[in-house]
Amino acid sequence: MLILGLNMFHADASAAILQDGKILFAVAEERLNRHKHYGGFPALAVKACLEAAGAKITDVDHVAVGQDKDANLARKVQYALANPAKILNFIRMRQRKEAMRDVRLLLSGALDIDPKKLKFQEHHLEHHIAHIASSYYCSPWDQAAGFSYDGSGDFVSTMMARCEGDDIHILDRVFLPHSLGSFYTMICEFIGYKKYGDEGKVMGLAPYGKDTYVEQIRKILALRNGGFQLNMNYFKPLGSNQGMQVLPDGTVRLARHFSAKMEKLFGAPREPFSEITQREMDLAYAMQHCFEEVFFHLLEQLHSRVPDENLAMAGGCALNSVANGKLFSSTPFRRTWIQPAAGDEGLAIGAALHTYHSVLKQPRRTQMDHAYLGPEFSESRIESDLKSGGVKYHRLERGPLLEAVSDEMVKGNVVGWFQGRMEWGPRALGNRSIVTHPGLPGMKDVLNARIKHREWFRPFAPAILAEAQHEYFEHDHPSPYMLHVYKIRPDKRESLSAVNHVDNTGRLQTVSREENPLYYDLIQAFGRKTGIPVILNTSFNENEPIVCTPQEAIACFQRTKMDVLAIGPFIARKTDY
Ligand SMILES: [Fe+2]
Repeated sequence: MLILGLNMFHADASAAILQDGKILFAVAEERLNRHKHYGGFPALAVKACLEAAGAKITDVDHVAVGQDKDANLARKVQYALANPAKILNFIRMRQRKEAMRDVRLLLSGALDIDPKKLKFQEHHLEHHIAHIASSYYCSPWDQAAGFSYDGSGDFVSTMMARCEGDDIHILDRVFLPHSLGSFYTMICEFIGYKKYGDEGKVMGLAPYGKDTYVEQIRKILALRNGGFQLNMNYFKPLGSNQGMQVLPDGTVRLARHFSAKMEKLFGAPREPFSEITQREMDLAYAMQHCFEEVFFHLLEQLHSRVPDENLAMAGGCALNSVANGKLFSSTPFRRTWIQPAAGDEGLAIGAALHTYHSVLKQPRRTQMDHAYLGPEFSESRIESDLKSGGVKYHRLERGPLLEAVSDEMVKGNVVGWFQGRMEWGPRALGNRSIVTHPGLPGMKDVLNARIKHREWFRPFAPAILAEAQHEYFEHDHPSPYMLHVYKIRPDKRESLSAVNHVDNTGRLQTVSREENPLYYDLIQAFGRKTGIPVILNTSFNENEPIVCTPQEAIACFQRTKMDVLAIGPFIARKTDY
């Protein structure tokens, strides 16, 4: 049985395909069409899914979409009636959703096939159920508490659930306009980060701040009756799309969230790219602090209703790895399973798995134990791309390749590491990564000056052999998808200076041999030479979506000051030119 899952006409459009409940392939459209956070129809992703499954769209039995325009309709109408200025917005959004509802027409158009030949059944699933499904059904557990939170989806910002066996029972929803995601976005905009997806950058700024504004920010985001409430005086009146708009070309645009009251309280907003002052750092601190307070409060509430130690979590806010790292000490939950594609691209997998288990009543059989679900390229394709790119390269066997790349990292050289299937989700996890020494002084500045051009306050991440985690970090819970930030032990901070953030933390990736043997062996080879079983890992890109194809990797290698490219069994060095 083939099930195609889709996230479409929404940020981070994506597609995933299941065969008899097993995830065969999943990819976000942005990686294929190179349009960051693309929010249109994921035509290329659908084609890639079908190709990977060796199937045609006429073979697909079910198509599941992680969005349901009829979900929470009464709440939407109630909100629109109470906010007459927003009624027009509401109607326009309904019309857009009506148009996209015709999945058959969209698929037949994209794949150039007669819609009458399509045999699949169509399913639409509420946004946050799809998020929870994307975590719980991929987890190894038979029961768990389910939690999803983000800016908004189907008029909801937060959902709590009890997950048991094949089913997800919804316990509670927080409706718009109250939203932790919108709160975070609003403050990020105020301090000059206005693009969709900028929230992750500002998280790194928070530890530079002090407790100057926490009391004031608590007036904006307050705990209430087991939940939370936004003080809407600080926000522009929200439309039914909560300030996020998908333009006809698929660009996701944020409308301004903050109101004049924010300016009255904190002064003029910071202009993008202007100097960051202590005020912005202190606002970032207060934002992260208050976000965590509410998050932990919500998890306490959830645990009181589902007294389990397992937490299955997704939604864009679940990418807040700082909050995730603290939840073990701040809430009763002891284990997390967070979907690596916790943002909206993950809806494709969630909708497909929910259809398989909850709708079609098929027993659980998927346990997602790695995130390498994207495209891969043959050795001959890579070699032909190297040749046509005019790159001088050598071919090495596995052992010599690992020796050569680890030697380069020991010297402090920066290596583009392109291997196997591309990662699913926003993090590079060792198949489309740039890797180097984690402990050389100035390495962060070198990487930024030469390739990444990131804000000075953003940390780089350590990838560590799973069995060494305890020796280097103050928490043992694994972080295979780079979704937890933990304190680095005092005696290890110097040896990890390039990945040790200002508050002595690191957003680690724990790497096991089972998940990624080649990457594991690379870190181990580096560890043998330096005594440090850790490498610096950042995504393989330069202000663009993470590279997907060999051509994109080669182009990035050639236009940046990357020292070495290790692509499949081939190695290329700038010094050879
Ligand atoms: Fe979402």
